[in-house]
Amino acid sequence: MKAIEVTEYGRSEALEPDERPVPEPGPDEVRIDVETAGINFADVMQRRGAYPGGPEPPYVPGLEAAGRIDAVGENVGLREGDEVVAMTTAGAYAEYALARPDQCFPIPEGMDFAEAAGFPIQFMTAHCCLFGWGDLEADERVLVHAAAGGVGTAAVQLASRAGAEVFGTASTGRKLDLAADLGVDHPINYTETDFAAEVDEITDGEGVHLVLDGVGGDVFDDSMDALAHFGRIVTYGVASGVPAQANTQELLFSNTSVIGFHLGQAMRHDASRVLEAIPDLTEGLQSGELEVIVGERFPLAKAAEAHQYVEDRNSVGKVVLEP
Ligand SMILES: NC(=O)c1ccc[n+]([C@@H]2O[C@H](COP(=O)([O-])OP(=O)(O)OC[C@H]3O[C@@H](n4cnc5c(N)ncnc54)[C@H](OP(=O)(O)O)[C@@H]3O)[C@@H](O)[C@H]2O)c1
Repeated sequence: MKAIEVTEYGRSEALEPDERPVPEPGPDEVRIDVETAGINFADVMQRRGAYPGGPEPPYVPGLEAAGRIDAVGENVGLREGDEVVAMTTAGAYAEYALARPDQCFPIPEGMDFAEAAGFPIQFMTAHCCLFGWGDLEADERVLVHAAAGGVGTAAVQLASRAGAEVFGTASTGRKLDLAADLGVDHPINYTETDFAAEVDEITDGEGVHLVLDGVGGDVFDDSMDALAHFGRIVTYGVASGVPAQANTQELLFSNTSVIGFHLGQAMRHDASRVLEAIPDLTEGLQSGELEVIVGERFPLAKAAEAHQYVEDRNSVGKVVLEP
């Protein structure tokens, strides 16, 4: 089968097309004939060798595979032909991928495979960060960074649907237009404006109750300035490559909280807390209230180009690979 392999950590060129044997499912696994693989920023960090606990070369990357089950192990309730999207541990950038049944979700009605590949990681992350971890209430203000990105487009729609006042940052006018279409009330181009100062001005100095930060570094520091008294900041990613340091004295004098979220680790330690999001997400996606924004589709062989596109911050919504 055709697959993408990382034989050495490095830049996007480290993603090379390769031929591999079609994998055989173990007794507790299914094999998926992959129609679409989702790209996540975590794939980029793993490829750079900058992801704690990430796979070691040689490996086939990819954490999301949507397609049809074409072979099942002995102890598995799923059937050949079932259409699923799976959160794999690795291996989705290929024509066939293995997954455990508890990693597979039925594809919500009306979704195509590309939309399905954009649903589990980014929508569950957004939902957990906003509600399960961030405790967002309808009458609150929330600031979403990278509001036109994968997690960002999901978070904006979810927060707006919940009745919150949504602030969103992005680096270009095109991204901010999309974010505004999806529900951002206050789009902020952080390359032109100091976003914390703008939040301060719009909220008469009160700030936002919740920040979702997947960038880290200076963005985290400045987000602390944008927080209201008693505010919460959920840190769920380090796209800047620079982990931030929280100032505990600042936290205690402002009664603010920093909360960490990691989907894979949360699933491992208490999956029920994450899976609570599924009924609401499925309902929202099936009713059309929520939409997976598929920004760009690349053929599988162009995985390196697709990673570069994401790293260059050109992407909006979900970028996918099609074998
Ligand atoms: N904790 C978890 O379980 C979990 C799950 C999913 C994702 N994540 C994390 O969430 C973040 C977003 O992931 P995603 O897959 O949805 O990606 P994404 O938002 O589609 O892409 C990253 C976006 O981050 C912004 N950005 C800011 N500084 C950047 C930099 N130095 N390099 C590249 N991008 C930068 C860019 O938007 P602008 O151009 O608008 O600034 C870029 O488009 C990542 O940090 C990812 O690792 C965490």
